[in-house]
Amino acid sequence: MHEGINPVAHRLAINNGTQCGYCTVGFVMNMSAFLAENPSPTKKEIESIFDGNICRCTGYRSILTGMKTFASDWSAEDEAQRMKCLTEEKCHQVLVHESINIPFPRAARMALPPISILNSTQKWLSPETLDELKDILRKNPPDTTRIVFGNTSFGVYAEEFPKFKLFVDIKLIPELYGISKSEKGIEVGASTTYSELLTYLDLLIKKEKLVPTSRIGAIQYMVHRTAGMIVRNAASIAGNTMLELKHIQSGPPFPSDLFTALFGTDSDIRILKVKSGKESLIKISALIQQVLKAPEMVHDLIILGYFIPFGNANEVTLSQKVALREVNSHSIVNNCTRIELDQNLKVKEVSIVYAGIAPVAWKASSSEQWLKGKTLDLDLLPKLTVILRREVQKELNQWENHGRYESIPSEGFTDEYKTNLAISFLYKAVIRTLLEKSTQGVPTDLSSAGKINWGNWGLSNGIQSYQIQDFKKPISQPYIKLMAFHQAMGQVHYTHEISLPPVGKNAAFIQSKNPLATIIL
Ligand SMILES: Cc1cc2nc3c(=O)[nH]c(=O)nc-3n(C[C@H](O)[C@H](O)[C@H](O)COP(=O)(O)OP(=O)(O)OC[C@H]3O[C@@H](n4cnc5c(N)ncnc54)[C@H](O)[C@@H]3O)c2cc1C
Ligand code: FES
Repeated sequence: MHEGINPVAHRLAINNGTQCGYCTVGFVMNMSAFLAENPSPTKKEIESIFDGNICRCTGYRSILTGMKTFASDWSAEDEAQRMKCLTEEKCHQVLVHESINIPFPRAARMALPPISILNSTQKWLSPETLDELKDILRKNPPDTTRIVFGNTSFGVYAEEFPKFKLFVDIKLIPELYGISKSEKGIEVGASTTYSELLTYLDLLIKKEKLVPTSRIGAIQYMVHRTAGMIVRNAASIAGNTMLELKHIQSGPPFPSDLFTALFGTDSDIRILKVKSGKESLIKISALIQQVLKAPEMVHDLIILGYFIPFGNANEVTLSQKVALREVNSHSIVNNCTRIELDQNLKVKEVSIVYAGIAPVAWKASSSEQWLKGKTLDLDLLPKLTVILRREVQKELNQWENHGRYESIPSEGFTDEYKTNLAISFLYKAVIRTLLEKSTQGVPTDLSSAGKINWGNWGLSNGIQSYQIQDFKKPISQPYIKLMAFHQAMGQVHYTHEISLPPVGKNAAFIQSKNPLATIIL
């Protein structure tokens, strides 16, 4: 029996939140799942869940309006401003399900059974313990065997997949899960997803009243700035680390955001070497050195987890990222800078880490050395900038000479641009540190450079106005299109999804400056 259309699909359709409809089901699914778990969210919370949903043609105003009508703080004023369509009253007669109803069959609620799928070319195995995983990895050739957790890396390096004969799914291995807190920091299991880590960190920051420039704040920033919510729900942090480590020597380098922050916060990583069975907890910097020396070791590696230290109250740690888009976009350059001062503002410790300069997270060691021991002051900036510029350019040239950037499609970012990004990140970190730690502060005309703007924006809003041209009636009138309901319910098929019928032909438009010319094949 038809119990009614999903309320989210209905709201989206009546608010004209669809055009081609291609993205619509994604929006409906995301919002429905969110509402099922958060029955009375605010407008701001609703807006924040759509950082991974992209719409190319409708425009976000109408989509967000439809979604925000579910908010607990949706006011009478908001409702008065909402652009209503001519046939909305009729559309309220459509049977709408009384609640968000997400079917969750019993079988789906149970723990996943281990699976073992074999076909002639590829196998998929899911071990249930770490010992089983080690056993499988020891018995199979490393260059054609791939560990899999969320498998989101398919979206980044799809061309690498055909060579693998065996996929080993690690989702059932309990030893790789869990987050726990100690006096000095937090232990995070390798298979923790970005969303799980973000939820944990948000709560921790609130409970412990940690500032955004604590080490935990710097990690939280990069976790939040990775991909969008949909990817973060599936992607593990170890999978992200391995993408960077596996592309140090070959393939397009991977400028991970979290890895830069883990390195910059002086975190440890717990690894297991498959052949020897040896487990160790080492610094991220030490692991990078090992992989640079012997890149093939990445095939012998299982990541077990991480230790992220809290650090101390005398330091300022700032993570930054510049990418083509705010979210769902890899860094052009990212950075994590940590500056620890003594009571006289003397730099006790400093760490300046970048991705996007070298094929792996890279430390600006000359700048660090120059800064260490000096009293932090704005007057240091001109000289510091010169030193940093020199060493960033040297590093960029080195990897260019090795041909490491040839495999990346040019996005038009020059080395000069990357160098300037690196410099402005450090500039911002110094200003921020002075703002927080110096009693004299920073001149007002410079202080805005130390602000952390990302994520601290207000709620978006938009009002659409239009003029009806009566002579075109019914065209140009704000009618709800019937197709919107089919689109929002996922009932629409697109031509590229439909297989070609037996007598069908593919066709493409060809532009020609010779109308009616004869094509000679
Ligand atoms: C649309 C999109 C946007 C993205 N945006 C960003 C971004 O802004 N910033 C960013 O840093 N990243 C970004 N990423 C990358 C994303 O973070 C990674 O794809 C993800 O973290 C990988 O996790 P996974 O569990 O899916 O790993 P998988 O894809 O399952 O595996 C990735 C690699 O890690 C290995 N592996 C996984 N777990 C382990 C383990 N425990 N031990 C050893 N090896 C292991 C696998 O063998 C494989 O080589 C984006 C990805 C997508 C698809
Ligand atoms: S892509 Fe969103 S409606 Fe077309």
